[in-house]
Amino acid sequence: MRIRFLIGLALVLIVFTQCKDENQTVLEKKYIFQVPMGFSEPILRKDNPITFSKIALGKKLFFDPILSLDSSISCGSCHRPQFAFSDPNPISPGVKGKIALRNAPSLSNLAWHPYFFAEGGSPNLEAQVLGPVEDQNEMAFSIVKAVNRLKDNSTYNQLFQEVFLDSPSVYTTTRAIAAFERSLISSNSKFDKYVLEGDKAAFTPVEKRGYELFISDSLKCNTCHSGFMLTDFSFQNNGIYEIYEDPGRARLTLNDTDRGKFKVPSLRNIAFTGPYMHDGSFKNLEEIIDHYASGGKNHENQSRKIQGFSISEEDKIALVQFLQCLTDSVFIGNEVY
Ligand code: HEC
Ligand code: HEC
Repeated sequence: MRIRFLIGLALVLIVFTQCKDENQTVLEKKYIFQVPMGFSEPILRKDNPITFSKIALGKKLFFDPILSLDSSISCGSCHRPQFAFSDPNPISPGVKGKIALRNAPSLSNLAWHPYFFAEGGSPNLEAQVLGPVEDQNEMAFSIVKAVNRLKDNSTYNQLFQEVFLDSPSVYTTTRAIAAFERSLISSNSKFDKYVLEGDKAAFTPVEKRGYELFISDSLKCNTCHSGFMLTDFSFQNNGIYEIYEDPGRARLTLNDTDRGKFKVPSLRNIAFTGPYMHDGSFKNLEEIIDHYASGGKNHENQSRKIQGFSISEEDKIALVQFLQCLTDSVFIGNEVY
């Protein structure tokens, strides 16, 4: 009798827990943030847990022109997936043919950025969303008006209810987009295999030579483009101008010693993110190597690490080939986006 009762109880428990599990899988599979090998812990936010449905909503918003004044431009118009979420235009066109301030950077591994924009003016991804929506040269709208449009849209209302149990608001809209952005992880390059995963067969001898040059004492590229992101996130003047039209970091600090300093960009997927530099003024990687080899234009804030060097044509080819090893073709070709 007792045994039968226990078996009965066990069955009830099993069915109950299975139901619960099934319900969970029907509702949502748990999103587990995968930290790639050799990466540090990402900067995640407790008040914005990532879920699959939130990523899907954020993605829909990212590619929807509804957030711009005349519904003509989405985040994805300037951050295009096939260019690692950058723009092949030197300066991206915003609404009504206006032009943005800078070259649109690639968006990958944003969960590891300590701040955003070339002068570091935005502290987190949730806050960053307001920048392009409100920028008169980009989406030229207001986040409040954009959210009102979402409220008037029955599909969005339903989706926000499903994801947040809440209606579209500035809070929920910025959180959905930020969650999608944190899910953009690029870690499938030859660089990842060779340098971070230790697969010594991943580079050809020429690519290996290029890597040795990149980290060499004479080129010093990795003193700024360091670590798994190929940036130390510092602000540096890399000497591309004598006179900077764009004040760079000084735009934020109003400090003359910050003029012409920009956040060191990640070089991941660099072969796909041209044209280069904050203003898109460099067309290709060879030009960039020539710039560093020349020792720069000697602006008063130019980093002392940029001293110039001599490099043979053969080594230049090797360095370019190494830079091409930073391409993650899975990321660029990913249908998921
Ligand atoms: C008109 C083109 C344009 C549109 C539209 C646009 N962006 Fe950008 N984005 C840029 C440019 C240009 C920059 C660089 C700005 C800077 O550094 O000051 C940038 C920078 C960023 C950054 C910072 C990257 C970094 O490395 O610091 C993020 C994140 C970003 N955009 C996300 C978005 C999101 C989300 C949207 C939509 C809500 C959006 N962008 C819409 C052009 C655009
Ligand atoms: C003193 C720090 C520093 C050093 C050393 C340095 N860079 Fe840079 N690099 C920067 C900064 C800062 C930028 C962005 C400047 C801008 O936006 O105008 C940049 C931009 C680039 C870009 C363009 C990135 C993009 O998305 O537009 C490439 C490619 C690049 N560097 C490669 C190299 C190579 C190769 C070396 C070694 C020969 C090197 N860098 C050495 C600081 C540095």
